[in-house]
Amino acid sequence: MTERPWWQRGAIYQLLVPSFLDTDGDGLGDLEGVTARLDYLEWLGVNAVWLSPCYPSPLKELGYDVSDYCNVEPRFGSLPAFDRLLDEAHRRELRVILDWVGNHTSAQHPWFRESRSSRASPRRNWYLWRDAKPDGSPPNNWVSVFGGSVWHWDAVTSQYYLHTFLDSQPDLNWREPQVRAAMLDAMKFWLDRGVDGFRLDAAPLFYKDPEWRDNPANPDYRAGELPDSTQLPKHTRNQPGLHELFAELRALVDGYRGERVLLGEFYVSTEELVTFYGDRSPELHLPLNLSWTWSKWQADVIGPTIADYQARVASRGWPTTTLDTHDQPRIVARAGIEQARVAALLLLTQRGTPTLYYGDEIGMRGVDIPSEQAVDPQGRRTGRNRDPTRTPMQWSDDTYAGFSTVEPWLPVGVDRATANVATQSHDAGSLLTLTRRLLELRAREPVLQSGAQEPREAGAGLIAYSRGDERRFLVVANLMHAPTSYDLRGDGPGRVVLSTFIDREGERVAGQVRLRADEGLVIALDAAPSESRSA
Ligand code: GLC
Repeated sequence: MTERPWWQRGAIYQLLVPSFLDTDGDGLGDLEGVTARLDYLEWLGVNAVWLSPCYPSPLKELGYDVSDYCNVEPRFGSLPAFDRLLDEAHRRELRVILDWVGNHTSAQHPWFRESRSSRASPRRNWYLWRDAKPDGSPPNNWVSVFGGSVWHWDAVTSQYYLHTFLDSQPDLNWREPQVRAAMLDAMKFWLDRGVDGFRLDAAPLFYKDPEWRDNPANPDYRAGELPDSTQLPKHTRNQPGLHELFAELRALVDGYRGERVLLGEFYVSTEELVTFYGDRSPELHLPLNLSWTWSKWQADVIGPTIADYQARVASRGWPTTTLDTHDQPRIVARAGIEQARVAALLLLTQRGTPTLYYGDEIGMRGVDIPSEQAVDPQGRRTGRNRDPTRTPMQWSDDTYAGFSTVEPWLPVGVDRATANVATQSHDAGSLLTLTRRLLELRAREPVLQSGAQEPREAGAGLIAYSRGDERRFLVVANLMHAPTSYDLRGDGPGRVVLSTFIDREGERVAGQVRLRADEGLVIALDAAPSESRSA
């Protein structure tokens, strides 16, 4: 049997460069900081690290406003510092994935400055410029993610340009062949340096309706959702050209030796998501499954979400599951510290590749920061502040959590007294220890990576599924703050290999398995007699 590629065996760790470790005393994390913590990541047991954008940027939007695709933001380091990070990661068999911001640039990117300078600029068509309607109003009704029209009036050349996010983040025109060529060259720049892949930011948005038609209103809009959700993205998302582009990017990446990988960020239904594996030709290796991040943490919501995703993806491509990202409240904020353990167990026993978010392994809650004080422009504009999810990694219980020697760019969590690496690494019962044990178990048991996953009927508040065919595991998770029990039924007796409380290892279970409040179990099922004969 040939070994599956690393991105099907391993786990991916997402971190924010500005929030991981500050080594130069400016309150902002940097690439040297990531390099300094590679030993930690190796010890934790992850196999790849996905870095937030570290390109030159005015940093108005966490670096998702790029002003040069082929360099490193000086506040984060330099190209030599990046190369060192890559070498040191590879020496430890850790892969490095970059965030690739293709939908838009910063308004400070030389391409946009040039495009904006005159209607006759050779780069005019690199961005999306349109005339006003006769009454002076914007070309159509499209709404920006951060509120208001996507169209910004530019007095210099008396036209509107399109920005899906901030007006300082103009959208690129992917229908312009020179844009395509320049962006693919930027990808090659990093692939040639040795990076192991990219996460395509805002992946379904790269192309817009060539006829610029109005979007219809969204009848299901609920107050509190982001402003663009007032409309259905009929003409702004997943437009003609997108699948062909992804197929081209895939061919580029596959042309390199060493199993490079493409991830993509999609806020779409699972049905739509699986089309990005590619129907006609291969597209993305891992269209990220973000459904957990927006689903209510309840067994009767998460359970069916898991079952639906695994069923739909089974024949289409390799599954992947994300618990948290830099865009949504952390699991502790969504579900409480007790359930963070259950969530870790569910995430790391899914079929497919899990992505972990920095700080979840120690149960960081994040910091409540009022929207008026937000650094995040989305927070200031919409009230949905993402700063709480982006605060400094907590290495110790120091004033600045061992992240920096000076006051960091975002406040440090008050939970650092207990939610920190130094304390939890010496605690055999900590969430950090549990996360390590789960990653270890997963690495040791290929069945947990790739074995079949079958949902089981479970009682209220429970999620249960089996993994594998011949060698079988059963995962049962109690999402309630009250004890309960689960009937093993036809799955027969077995042995606990792991409890989220790290205290039942080796316990024989049969019939009714009791679960404490907020407990999850991985049970190794005894082989059925017929199976053990044939094995
Ligand atoms: C993606 C990123 C998000 C950012 C947006 C605009 O959705 O995940 O953080 O705000 O793109 O770049």
